Amino acid sequence: MGCSPPRFVRVVLAMRRAAGRCLPPLAAVALCLAASPALAFHGGGAGECDGCHSMHDSNDGVSGPGPRGGYLLKASDPSSVCLNCHQAQGDIGPVGYHISTAEADMPPGLPPRQMAPGGDFGWLKKTFQWTTRPGTPLQTSPGERHGHSIVALDYGYSSDSRSFTAPGGTYPSANLSCVSCHDPHGKYRRFADGSVGTSGLTVLGSGSQASGTDPVAGVGAAGVYRMLGGVGYQPRSLSGALAFQNPPPAAVAPNTYNRRETTTQTRVAYGRDMSEWCANCHPRLLVSGVTEQMSGLRHPAGNGAILGATMSRNYASYLRTGKLTGFASQSYLSLVPFEEGHADYTRLKAHARSDDLYLQGPDDVSTVMCLTCHRAHASGFDGALRFRARGAEFITVGDTVSGARYPDPLAEPAVAEGRTQAETRASYYDRPATVFSPFQRSLCNKCHVKD
Ligand code: HEC
Ligand code: HEC
Ligand code: HEC
Ligand code: HEC
Ligand code: HEC
Ligand code: HEC
Repeated sequence: MGCSPPRFVRVVLAMRRAAGRCLPPLAAVALCLAASPALAFHGGGAGECDGCHSMHDSNDGVSGPGPRGGYLLKASDPSSVCLNCHQAQGDIGPVGYHISTAEADMPPGLPPRQMAPGGDFGWLKKTFQWTTRPGTPLQTSPGERHGHSIVALDYGYSSDSRSFTAPGGTYPSANLSCVSCHDPHGKYRRFADGSVGTSGLTVLGSGSQASGTDPVAGVGAAGVYRMLGGVGYQPRSLSGALAFQNPPPAAVAPNTYNRRETTTQTRVAYGRDMSEWCANCHPRLLVSGVTEQMSGLRHPAGNGAILGATMSRNYASYLRTGKLTGFASQSYLSLVPFEEGHADYTRLKAHARSDDLYLQGPDDVSTVMCLTCHRAHASGFDGALRFRARGAEFITVGDTVSGARYPDPLAEPAVAEGRTQAETRASYYDRPATVFSPFQRSLCNKCHVKD
């Protein structure tokens, strides 16, 4: 199944018509305030109920029962409800709020098409295989290793077969869905004093993007970043004591965020609390203080993991392997983002851009976070990493005359790891290989400069 564009349009129209009458008075107020921008659905809070629920199993006027999970959902399970709108077969490139590519649009050798900051879940369906040299064992990079294996039966996504719980925590993989992380009803809201709550002032709109809503004291609140769950959040369908302990992160995405980074980068202004938010499910992976770091394989991350003068200087000067002549004001790389170390939304909004007009690198209070190295949804690499960071660690091949190129799976199998050049290029959000050096080393070097 799926959501063909006409059906989506019907849903939106139906929702517009329904606005203000299907709801109890208070919610209706929230809805009217929130429903204005074109194409907005959630408006940072609870979207119209019938976008996701069907009150009488009416299946949008089509006869016969549709697939139904619990809670009167319009699909077999929560994630499938989301994908009814967040995936669309036929996308030819990155499209708005789409975060997953239909299988028909990514046959073998061709990459998933969405390039939003969180990454395309389609990578979970791409298993890569290769042999380094003839006669050596077959190596595999299984799809399920490329990110968060959400369960979405109607769309062919199933849970991770290796990890039964979140590594470093107890959250069950079998229950991992979009609503594990995003509150479908968008209850968490940010008030003018910076605090976050689930009730009180109405959500005026989404506060996630550069032109997003600001909270107004005594009047209304803004939806938290990407409707992420906050303290106490736990989907009703999940049993056990797994409620989130930490608040949603402070961050702002640019208005245009799902796009190729061929010529300019997509800069999400990450403020603070992202790693602490990940630690809601991965508590034992959070190592913020430098003293407790690296006992095991835990890289420091979090509000306390300050880069400091040396690493900030490294970040500023590192352009690519062998080229360390950069300036702080031009040094930002969206493949290695950092947190700014504050929650000042005026600054975050100014920094969230996709036109390269703000490329300032880290300063004294900037920190390393989980998303410095990982994407939140999925990526072309194992462990949902933003860049290749294992094996020989090369990102490119090439020579000094014609410059860098992405590895060919037949000619350079150990570097390509089974990916076609198109797949590798898409993993770097369509950057040309020439932004790197030939035999570019892992981007850990952006801070550590060991290459
Ligand atoms: C973006 C999709 C979406 C929208 C819009 C939405 N819901 Fe839900 N709702 C869900 C999902 C998914 C669940 C199941 C959550 C779970 O797995 O525990 C759910 C569960 C529920 C539940 C039962 C569990 C609970 O959390 O209390 C109620 C009641 C509910 N929704 C009411 C509403 C109402 C009323 C509206 C309109 C104001 C609404 N929903 C709008 C997706 C949505
Ligand atoms: C009826 C279509 C529809 C459904 C169903 C739907 N979405 Fe959305 N979603 C949208 C649209 C349109 C946008 C972009 C505009 C907006 O933010 O309202 C969006 C935006 C979002 C955003 C970014 C919002 C922000 O404030 O930054 C998130 C996160 C999101 N959706 C998650 C979900 C999840 C999780 C579900 C399932 C529980 C879901 N959506 C179901 C249509 C839908
Ligand atoms: C493990 C937690 C997690 C799960 C599971 C998850 N998301 Fe997200 N999502 C996030 C985070 C964190 C961000 C912000 C990413 C960033 O800014 O780097 C995000 C961002 C988004 C966005 C904004 C576009 C983007 O990529 O930044 C949309 C839309 C969205 N999610 C929808 C969904 C839908 C639909 C699902 C299920 C199919 C889902 N998410 C599953 C954590 C999650
Ligand atoms: C709601 C719980 C939840 C949250 C929040 C969450 N995760 Fe996870 N994560 C899981 C579960 C469950 C697994 C194991 C299943 C899997 O690998 O898909 C997992 C696996 C992973 C993996 C391994 C993926 C693989 O297959 O190799 C990485 C990396 C990861 N998480 C990073 C993050 C980061 C970074 C954040 C914050 C942006 C985050 N997680 C937030 C539940 C969560
Ligand atoms: C400096 C980079 C870096 C930072 C920061 C970082 N990670 Fe990782 N993480 C990695 C690498 C590299 C791997 C190994 C990836 C692979 O090859 O599978 C990894 C693996 C993982 C795995 C998979 C482990 C397993 O047993 O399968 C999880 C889960 C994970 N990281 C979560 C997190 C969380 C949560 C944070 C923040 C608290 C975080 N990481 C911060 C680089 C980082
Ligand atoms: C955004 C900057 C940044 C990036 C990118 C980064 N690190 Fe780090 N790393 C740090 C900071 C900060 C510390 C804390 C120790 C310090 O201040 O010397 C650290 C510490 C370490 C340590 C502990 C030993 C030491 O030098 O103190 C290792 C090992 C390490 N990082 C490996 C990696 C690897 C591997 C990657 C890539 C997967 C990576 N780092 C990416 C900033 C970074």
